[in-house]
Amino acid sequence: MVKVLFVCLGNICRSPLAEALFNHKIKQKKYQDHLSCDSCGTSEYHIGELPDERAIACANKNGIKMNHRGRQLNRIDFRDFDYLIAMDKSNLENVKISAEQHKTAPNNLLLMCAFQKNPKFMEVPDPYYGGVDGFQKVYDILDSSLDGLIEELEKKQQLLDKK
Ligand code: 4NP
Repeated sequence: MVKVLFVCLGNICRSPLAEALFNHKIKQKKYQDHLSCDSCGTSEYHIGELPDERAIACANKNGIKMNHRGRQLNRIDFRDFDYLIAMDKSNLENVKISAEQHKTAPNNLLLMCAFQKNPKFMEVPDPYYGGVDGFQKVYDILDSSLDGLIEELEKKQQLLDKK
């Protein structure tokens, strides 16, 4: 099983959306036995909380269900996950700092936008202080980036041969 951890700041907007959409896509492709994911935040702001209402509404509008409670990145995550996918550059830096504090190295720490086929954005923008439109923009960036990520994993893990 290859395990992917999506990381943002609060773990109530971007990374839980990424988690829900990734799960939706791997279910469609019947990869549940090969790929799994979770999400977390680098901050402790929203531990135990449900996703932001605007993120839930955006997911529902796009036919996706969210089922997550906010949690903070921790030491065990560096051991348990094969890929750490950060939403923006500040999240990526915070993961590096956390790894240093835990005297470990992050596995395959990458930016979500690195997987877009026709990159229009360098980062998944923080939608927290913006309007509803920002959430659809986040969703669209995640949608294309996750297609690229899954394609990459298909190649790396030879998933197509395993079906
Ligand atoms: P997220 O969005 O990192 O995509 O979950 C945010 C959620 C909360 C805050 C910032 C960003 N906050 O400052 O509380």
